[in-house]
Amino acid sequence: MSPSPPPRLIVASTNAGKIKEFRRILGEVFEVIPLSQTTFSDEIEETGATFFDNALLKAKAVYGRLGVPVLADDSGLCVEALDGAPGVYSARYGGAGATAADCNALLLKNLEGVANRSAKFVACIVLYFGRDKFLVGNGETAGRILTEPDGTNGFGYDPIFFSDELGKSFGQACADEKNAVSHRGRALADLLTRIANSEKRKTSDRNGWQNSNN
Ligand code: IMP
Repeated sequence: MSPSPPPRLIVASTNAGKIKEFRRILGEVFEVIPLSQTTFSDEIEETGATFFDNALLKAKAVYGRLGVPVLADDSGLCVEALDGAPGVYSARYGGAGATAADCNALLLKNLEGVANRSAKFVACIVLYFGRDKFLVGNGETAGRILTEPDGTNGFGYDPIFFSDELGKSFGQACADEKNAVSHRGRALADLLTRIANSEKRKTSDRNGWQNSNN
C-alpha cells in the first residue's frame, strides 16, 4: 500500500520567498499550497497596526472564503534608530511598485551616518482553523543593518541584514542556516509547540471527562 499523501495546508501569501521558506520548514509534514494555487484572488489590505493584527486579518479573509485551515504570517524588519520602522510597512516601504532593491536602497539612505544599526526581523504566524478558532506563533531574530548589500541569497531585506547569531548577512546564508535562526523559523516552531500543547490539552480533557464519568 502506498503511504497517504501529506495533508494540504494553504499559506495565505503570494510572496515567493516566504513560500519557499515555509516549504523548506513544513514540507515533510504538509503539502504547502500558496494562495496563487487556490481560487482566492482578492487583494487583502493589510490595515492592522501590528504583525498579529495583519496575520489574523489575512487568515480570516482566506478562511472566510475557502473554509479550510489556513496559515498566515505577517513579518517585517524593525530598525531601532527609526523607532521600529519600516515594521508593518516593510513590504510597502519604497512606495507602490518599489522592488526589494528599491526598499533596501531607501533604508540604507535613511540610515546614512547613523551609528546605531541595531534591527530585528519579527514574524507572527496564525493558524486559523474554524470560526474564531486560531493559534498564534511569534518569532524574532536580531542583527544590524549593513552599510551596503552583502550576498544575494534569500529575499527582501536579507542582503542588508547582518545576523548576530550567524555572524554573516542573511544574503550570504544558505536556506538551512537562515531557517535555523530566522524570525519565521522561530514563529513556526512556537506555533508547532502551541499546536502540540493544545492537542495534549484536548486529550487530557477527553480522558478527564471519561474518568469523571466512570
Ligand atoms: P508581508 O508580511 O507579506 O506584509 O511582508 C513582509 C515584508 O517584510 C517582505 O515583503 C519583506 O520586505 C520583509 N521581510 C519579511 N521577512 C523577511 C525575511 O525573512 N527576509 C527579508 N525580508 C523580509
